This record gives sequence, C-alpha cells and structure tokens, in this order.
Amino acid sequence: MFSGSIPLTLGNLTYLVFLGIGSNSFSGTMNDMHFSRLHNLENLDLSNTRFTFLFNPEWIPLFQLKELYLDDTNQGEEKFWDFMAGINISIDISNNSISGDMSNVRLNSFVIKLSHNNFTGTLPHLSPKVNYVDLSHNSFTGSIPHAWTNFKYLYFISLWNNNLFGEVLTILSCLTYLQVINLEKNEFFGAIPNNMSKSLQVVILRSNKFEGSIPPQLFLLSDLIHLDLAHNKLSGSIPQITYNTTRMIADAYSTNLLDLSANNISGKIPSELFRLIEVQTLNLSYNHLTGTIPKTIGGMKNLESLDLSNNKLFGEIPENMATLSFLSYLNLSCNNFSGQIPTGTQLQSFNISSYDGNPELCGDPLKKCSMEKNVVNTIQHGMNEDSEFDEESLYLGMGVGFAVGFCSVFGSLLIFRKWRHKYYRLLNRMYDQLYVTYMLKFNNFHA
Ligand SMILES: *[C@@H]1O[C@H](CO)[C@@H](O)[C@H](O)[C@H]1NC(C)=O
Ligand SMILES: *[C@@H]1O[C@H](CO)[C@@H](O)[C@H](O)[C@H]1NC(C)=O
Ligand SMILES: *[C@@H]1O[C@H](CO)[C@@H](O)[C@H](O)[C@H]1NC(C)=O
Ligand SMILES: *[C@@H]1O[C@H](CO)[C@@H](O)[C@H](O)[C@H]1NC(C)=O
Repeated sequence: MFSGSIPLTLGNLTYLVFLGIGSNSFSGTMNDMHFSRLHNLENLDLSNTRFTFLFNPEWIPLFQLKELYLDDTNQGEEKFWDFMAGINISIDISNNSISGDMSNVRLNSFVIKLSHNNFTGTLPHLSPKVNYVDLSHNSFTGSIPHAWTNFKYLYFISLWNNNLFGEVLTILSCLTYLQVINLEKNEFFGAIPNNMSKSLQVVILRSNKFEGSIPPQLFLLSDLIHLDLAHNKLSGSIPQITYNTTRMIADAYSTNLLDLSANNISGKIPSELFRLIEVQTLNLSYNHLTGTIPKTIGGMKNLESLDLSNNKLFGEIPENMATLSFLSYLNLSCNNFSGQIPTGTQLQSFNISSYDGNPELCGDPLKKCSMEKNVVNTIQHGMNEDSEFDEESLYLGMGVGFAVGFCSVFGSLLIFRKWRHKYYRLLNRMYDQLYVTYMLKFNNFHA
C-alpha cells in the first residue's frame, strides 16, 4: 500500500538488478532520470500502477531487460518498441490502452503478453524461440504468418477477438508442443486439419468461419480437455469412433468442456460421445442432430450443464438422466421429444423453458400426461396412412392430452376412410381454437 512518487535518486542505484514496485499506490511521473545509471537492471515490474510515463523518445536505456511487466498501467501511447525488442525473456504490457501499428515491430521474448490494448496492423514479427503468445483483444488483421509454423517451442497461442483471417491448417498441425490455441472471434476459415498437434489440451475455434466436418482425430487427442467449435459452419455428423480423449474419460482435475453448438451438424449423437465421463459442460444446441438421446448418457456423472436445444432429437428422455446428480443446467427445448419426463427426480426441478417446444413431451414441470401412450400411437399410425396427416400432427402435438381424450371417443371412426375426412375437419376447427389458447398461454409465460 505504498503511495507517493518515486524519487529521482532511484536512478543512482547502479547495482540494481531487479526493480519490482508494482501493485502499490505509487503515482506521479516516471522518466529517463529514474533509470539514468541503472546499467544492471534486468527485471522491471511496474504493473498495476498509475504512473505517467514521460520518456524522451530518443532515450536509449543503459540496461538490457530480460523481463518487463507493464500490465495494467493505464498506458495509452505507443512505447519504445526498439527497447521492447531487446527484452529476451518476458514482456507483459497487457490491459492498457496502447495503440499503434505492430506490422513492423520485432519482439524477441519467450513470453509475449499484449492482450487488451488497441494494437493494429498485422501480427508482430516474433523470434523462433517464442513459447507463449497472447495478443487477444486487439485489432490485429491479416493472417497468421507462415513463419509461425516453425516456432517449435510455441505451446500457447491466444489471438481471441481480433480481425484475423485465413486458413490455420499448418499452425494446428505443425506445432508439436502446442497445448492451447484460442482463435475465438476472428474470420478464420477453411477446414480443421485431421492431423492436429498431439499435445493440444485446449482448442477454441469458436465464432469463426470454419467449415467441413469435425475430424475424428480430434477425439483421439489424449490430452484434450476443452474443445469449443461453436458458431462456425461445420457440417457432417459427430464422429462415430471409439473416443480416446483420455483426459475427458478419466481426469477429474480439469474443467472439461465440449461445445459444438450453432453449426450445421447432422446425424445422430453417437453413444460413444457419452463415454467422455469427465465432461462437465456439453453443448450441442442449434444443430440438426436427430435420433434419440443414447442411454449411455447416464454414465456422464460429472455433467453440470447439458444443452441439446434446437435440434431434431426425438424419443423419450432416458430414465437414467435422472441420475446425473451434478446437473444444474438442462435445455432440451425445441426438439421433438415425447413421452413423460421421468418422475420423482431432479428433472422436475428444471424450469419449463428447459423442455419447451417439445409438443409431445409431458409430465411435471410440463402439463400432465393424461393418457396411455399406446392410444396416441394407434391414432398416429392410423393417421400416417393419410396425406393430410402432417397438418393434423402439428396441431395434435399442441395438445396431445386433449387429442387423446377426444380421440378415444371417436377413435373407431378412424377405420372408415370417408368418416375420417369429416373427423379431420371437425378436429381442425377445434384445434385452431386450442392452438390459439395454447399460444396465448405460451406467450404469457414468456412475457
Ligand atoms: C497435416 O496434413 C496436411 C494435409 O493433409 C499436410 O499438408 C501437413 O504437412 C500435415 N502436417 C503434419 C505435421 O503432418
Ligand atoms: C449453448 O450454445 C448456444 C449457442 O452457441 C448458446 O446460445 C447457449 O447459451 C449455450 N448454452 C449454455 C448452457 O451455455
Ligand atoms: C448444412 O449441411 C448440409 C449437408 O449436411 C448441406 O447440404 C447444407 O448446405 C449445409 N447448410 C449450410 C447453411 O451450410
Ligand atoms: C432453452 O433454450 C431456449 C431456446 O434456445 C431458450 O429460449 C430457453 O430460455 C432456454 N432455457 C433455459 C432454461 O435456459
């Protein structure tokens, strides 16, 4: 909790090697005089302070820093890049408002943290020895320079929230030690390579324009714990293979996530997917998935959040979903699930909006299931023979309970074709009414 300004006599400490005065309440200005005789300074940490820096642009420091920490210093101007280029271990100037075109800047550190500034231009030139790059939340443009594919020690790349574009095939496959890649919120496009680096643990390609299918090899990366491919244009189906992402199967210490939402993924959910029992967050919403929820879901004991909404899934909700004791978020809405929500379980504790938009789903917290299923089935099969079925089934879905009550009286009419048409017309009128009532209720609920 030191405060006040720094005396100029600091500049006389000729033997000073390490100056760490960050995270106090110092203020005032800092200029060349504060460093005038610090020949031996190697490590400078001024992070999280409120100094005003007034360095002469012509100033050439006498020292050669190895590490510089200026993060959270509220700096707004472009600073001495030549000086930065000389720092060979670590530069952290993240969380400032520094602007400037980085296209011709050369940085030579192992660790580079420039996130949350206003940098523009293409990505800076980096040294081949670099191993950690965080350039996120800036306004960089252009594509990832080809030279990066030779940075063989690079294990962390975050380019999140810039205006970058281009293909990333080689970056994802050539960097043998790459563990974390975050390209979220850029304009990258093309396919995801099928020979991704074996060391990858965190892959975030969210909110880009990637297309093609999800390479099965992704699910063979044994260290993968976080895979986020949401909001792209991926198509095809979820790979039907034996999943071998070891740490999603048996590593209880990491926060595992799998998010494939908002793509164009179709086909069934492979039951193998639910062997990833360490996954805590699973989001497959806003795709075109079909089929039923595999019963193997009951094995995902660590699941805390499951979003399957806005797909074309159908069938009953498996009983054993009720055994997912950590589940605190569930969304099955906007599918075609049917039957009764397993009763006497925590599945009842979710809000109606977790189940909305599944006209044939019933039971607490939705409307009561009024009739036996086999009656409904009989009626639907009866109707299926007829081309008028589609419209009716739409309405039917809006109020199965009513339909069943009504139909069990007139059910026998279904056998006689010419009666059936009259019956439909009658049904139609009644359902128009019911539909309106239903929609009113539905809208009230959402209002
Ligand atoms: C990955 O595959 C692509 C094309 O399939 C190929 O060009 C590239 O050399 C491969 N990378 C590695 C590291 O094998
Ligand atoms: C799942 O993904 C969709 C689309 O990306 C998003 O709107 C939704 O909030 C996500 N669900 C959860 C629980 O985060
Ligand atoms: C979605 O994928 C299907 C093939 O699975 C393709 O025919 C269709 O054009 C894709 N739609 C979009 C919007 O990419
Ligand atoms: C489930 O998703 C639907 C549609 O995306 C959304 O309207 C609803 O609010 C979500 N329910 C919950 C509980 O988040």
